[in-house]
Amino acid sequence: MTDQTADHAADTLTTAQIIASENAHFVRTYARPPFVLSHGSGVTVWDTDGVDYLDFTAGIAVNALGHADPGLAAALAAQAGKLVHTSNLYYTAPQTQLAERLTAHSFADRVFFTNSGTEANEAAIKFARKFARETFPGQHKTHIVCFEHAFHGRTIGSLSLTPKAKYQDAFRPLMPDVQVAPFNDVEAIGRFVTAQTCAVFLEPVQGEGGIHPATPEFTRALRARCDEVGALLVFDEVQCGLGRTGDLWAHTASGITPDMMTLAKPLAGGLPIGAALVTERVAATIGPGDHGSTFAGGPLITAAACYVFDRASAPEFLAHVNEIGAYLRERLEEVNSPHVKEVRGRGLMMGVQLDIDAADVVKKGYTHRILTVNAGPDVIRVVPPLIVERTECDTFVERFAAALAEV
Ligand SMILES: Cc1ncc(COP(=O)(O)O)c(C=O)c1O
Repeated sequence: MTDQTADHAADTLTTAQIIASENAHFVRTYARPPFVLSHGSGVTVWDTDGVDYLDFTAGIAVNALGHADPGLAAALAAQAGKLVHTSNLYYTAPQTQLAERLTAHSFADRVFFTNSGTEANEAAIKFARKFARETFPGQHKTHIVCFEHAFHGRTIGSLSLTPKAKYQDAFRPLMPDVQVAPFNDVEAIGRFVTAQTCAVFLEPVQGEGGIHPATPEFTRALRARCDEVGALLVFDEVQCGLGRTGDLWAHTASGITPDMMTLAKPLAGGLPIGAALVTERVAATIGPGDHGSTFAGGPLITAAACYVFDRASAPEFLAHVNEIGAYLRERLEEVNSPHVKEVRGRGLMMGVQLDIDAADVVKKGYTHRILTVNAGPDVIRVVPPLIVERTECDTFVERFAAALAEV
């Protein structure tokens, strides 16, 4: 089948046919609303019936440059015509160019590429275990500390650091030696982070857990305790990193740096990528064969990521996120609904705390042509593309208020 024929075949399917086909052929892991998205531009997406939606989900904090960004499309087309995949058996230029950018703009000395956020955390787990084994031989320093309401992914290692019964219980036994500590509780740190701890995983802003920033005091106390007991501090910036909070890295606000940082969602503007960034001290304990991936950091994805990184790391881009984030927050705080209890977050990573079921509001939002996603049972996560403008925020807030009024 030629490309044109394939396009034509997809175009002739009705919305009902696509939904019926999904229902018949997919493992039932996703519960989706009854429309089919077909294309987008900027902050707007259209469904196959021609209805337009304001997308304030951005593929769950992924599409930093919005939909169908012409520069990203051009970067992809140029690279697709040259080299798409080689495996990690060979050198290619785009992945080294991306690694140069990431290390030049962060605490890190070296990068390991993955295909997703959960895989970036799996890499960090393995690196932490190997670092501890090499650095403290015979000491059984294998424990990993994570925090209540954390979300680090759904593969077994990352899932073990995601302490939510709904995600974990059906899949036990999980990875052993995991301690779950209270979040933002400075007093508790000493009890959980001990001589047996090899790593502490923290989201500088908890995403899935309800948009809760870690306080600078808590983050600094963790850094100090990790140094005291020889544990690595790992920041999971899969969701909050790369400009989402208005800083290039969310942890900048705390004034300290980690030993490792994981990235994913926005890094290639919507294509699958992840990265574990590490210091030389950690990297020195990792050698050939310790970890690897067939697809990760391929030339197509990393060429796209170089383009996204150059846009998202520019000071004027970050200034826009701060400016528009403050504006959207003000507008959300004006929403006159008894169900809105708090608006919190940083930059364009915001949560609207409700006293009702967030899923009902998300669902009602579809009929008002807005896409939103919940973060836990009663928080609406507001994570639009970082290129969103004031007029789009105005329209979103109007539609959001209208949806809330009907729940
Ligand atoms: C903080 C954080 N870490 C890890 C992940 C897992 O990323 P992925 O879905 O790409 O595996 C997510 C996904 O939502 C996340 O928000």
